[in-house]
Amino acid sequence: MKNLNAFLSEVENHIDNNGFDDVLDLIPWFENLQMSDWESMIQYENGQPVNTTIYQSNEFRIIIICWAGKQQSSVHGHSEGGGLIKVLKGQLEETRFHPIDRNVVGDFKYCEGAMTYIHDMIALHQVKNPDPHPSFSLHVYTKRT
Ligand SMILES: [Fe+2]
Repeated sequence: MKNLNAFLSEVENHIDNNGFDDVLDLIPWFENLQMSDWESMIQYENGQPVNTTIYQSNEFRIIIICWAGKQQSSVHGHSEGGGLIKVLKGQLEETRFHPIDRNVVGDFKYCEGAMTYIHDMIALHQVKNPDPHPSFSLHVYTKRT
């Protein structure tokens, strides 16, 4: 397992040598990313944790998303390079929708440590914290999305 700085230096090195098409390129590193200090990175507004960008480059950005109890996103897409999600604390539920007819194509549950990949070519999605207490997740997106 590698910490954030090791992750970033390996990924930047890979991008310099091989270019960058999609966040799928980053999965081998993302799987091994150990974010033991993520709680110290979270920003707060009025005493509440808020979504916090922890890294941004020309190619991608990394965000910690804070989910209040029972909070859910709208149905949305991740165009171009797609997005990676890893649950840091709590759990998340996801419903996926066909990108054209918008019919439900799957329901998923992600426990702490689980990760997934989303892209408009696969599905649109809606993400929800099913619990009454907060959940936190780590997201990697191309800068364009
Ligand atoms: Fe999303």
